[in-house]
Amino acid sequence: MPWIWVFLLSAVLVAFTSFVLPRRRGPLPPGPLRWPLIGNGLDLWCKHPWKVYARWAQEYRSDILSLQIPGATIIILNKEHVVQDLFVKRGLIYSDRPYTAFFEKLGISRIFVFQDYGERWKNNRKAFKRYLGTETESVIRSNELLSCRRLLISLLTGNDHQVDFRKAVNDFFLSATYGIPPSQQDEHVALTQESAVLLKRLMIQGLVFEFLPFLASLPTWFTAAGVTRGVGVVGELVDKMMRTPFESAKADSIQGARRVSVAGRFFRFDKELSNISNDEEISIIDVLGTSYAAGTDTVVALVNSFALAMVLYPDIQRKAYTILNSTLRGRLPALKDYGTIPYIDALVQEVVRWNPIAPLGVPHVLRQDDVYKGYILPKGSICIANTWNILHDEERYGPNIDEFIPERFLNADGTLNETRAKTDVAFGFGRRTCPGESKSLSLYSMSVWLSTALRDIAREFAWILFASVLSAYELFDARDENGMPLYRSKIEYTTEIVSSAPHFKCQFRLRPGITRAMIHEAVGPVD
Ligand code: HEM
Repeated sequence: MPWIWVFLLSAVLVAFTSFVLPRRRGPLPPGPLRWPLIGNGLDLWCKHPWKVYARWAQEYRSDILSLQIPGATIIILNKEHVVQDLFVKRGLIYSDRPYTAFFEKLGISRIFVFQDYGERWKNNRKAFKRYLGTETESVIRSNELLSCRRLLISLLTGNDHQVDFRKAVNDFFLSATYGIPPSQQDEHVALTQESAVLLKRLMIQGLVFEFLPFLASLPTWFTAAGVTRGVGVVGELVDKMMRTPFESAKADSIQGARRVSVAGRFFRFDKELSNISNDEEISIIDVLGTSYAAGTDTVVALVNSFALAMVLYPDIQRKAYTILNSTLRGRLPALKDYGTIPYIDALVQEVVRWNPIAPLGVPHVLRQDDVYKGYILPKGSICIANTWNILHDEERYGPNIDEFIPERFLNADGTLNETRAKTDVAFGFGRRTCPGESKSLSLYSMSVWLSTALRDIAREFAWILFASVLSAYELFDARDENGMPLYRSKIEYTTEIVSSAPHFKCQFRLRPGITRAMIHEAVGPVD
């Protein structure tokens, strides 16, 4: 039988089971009209779906919506109270991921972001906390500052700050995690970028496999012929991306190099090198690789969003600099300044809120049938929290919600408004919350900061980077890819899991009193 018929027949069967059977069991939450066979398939292909879902929530007067496509039900949670009810209070059954056999083939199931809520995930998450927890605080902190200072040097001569920002974030993760110095980072960064590009392309095909699972068992001649071309390549690349920096840290340790890094500490204090079993080694490779893979793109997107806000809102940039400089008085910020300048804390919160870089979070999957507010939520539903909508709720964050206004997190006297909703929701919910961010951490208290078990890597790095860039440079004259000035109303973030600011260029001018020599001295020899 030609494959096309197998394909179509399978689609019809899957469509039948997913449209007819669930309806017999009770109503799904409301949602747009479903077409025969393709259901809401066409509704999924839209720009900025988080805005579309927010509009539907109003149209259907419901904080919970559903979409159906062949083989899957998608549940959209538009308000925080619904997310709390399901992802948090019923976390035991709402914490799986849309896991596919295809992900396993690609090798990305080694990144525990993609793993189901089970033993393997639990062990990895525990190990993540252990390797990136308090014990390694000083390791991470010293690397944060160093990579921000190295960024200030790159900005002296670079002609594309987005390239310099990405380099700085990679620098931080590679040096903090593996102790790889800037002069040896290019090879690792190239590998990561190559894997990311291929992965992005293959993810779409991954969805096809999810919905038409019989494709996963097709013979390799078929896969090689089309649908999964590149799977083997990606699997090898992902392995190489995770293994190479680890091997480099291991070789360093064997040679006695004393670079300060998470992996370095592991080799020095936790284990005799010869005692590591193969499984243990794979586990630490995967956990550190997950931190690198999950941390880099998200933090790059966050710092690019910061630069965009600074050029679109020059008054806020001026105010931030004036307040910063009244504390620093012409010096560059140091770690001891973290959490002592409320305006910069508010700036970080507003960058996280304004255009959230994970506007729909990472999907959770429902493990068993559930009933919520009279609706039937079928086992296997893909559940999406509309984080963008929650962070654009005027009841939580005040008026002019689309504008960049750090003051919404401040009292009139410039102190932090502790009653204002925080932006923790940007980092996910329940048992799958981002471990790169700790809810137990208050940005505002040094004592909590010092005693917190898992450090808030993303926010802290952002704080130091924003303060470093603002204290050393004025950002001005922003231009889009065609060399035209940027206008707030024309800005469009990308429609991706990690939603990024558009590419633009701007000028960086040294602040009065800050010299090139000062910036070079602040780093010392770059290696
Ligand atoms: C601006 C920065 C970041 C944002 C906005 C962000 C956001 C998120 C979100 C929304 C999730 C999914 C949570 C859920 O399923 O409910 C997540 C998961 C995750 N993030 Fe982050 N993240 C950031 C930075 C980082 C960093 C710096 C690291 C590593 C050091 C990291 C490591 C992870 C990991 C490992 C997961 C998977 C957790 C799991 O599935 O159990 N993230 N992040």
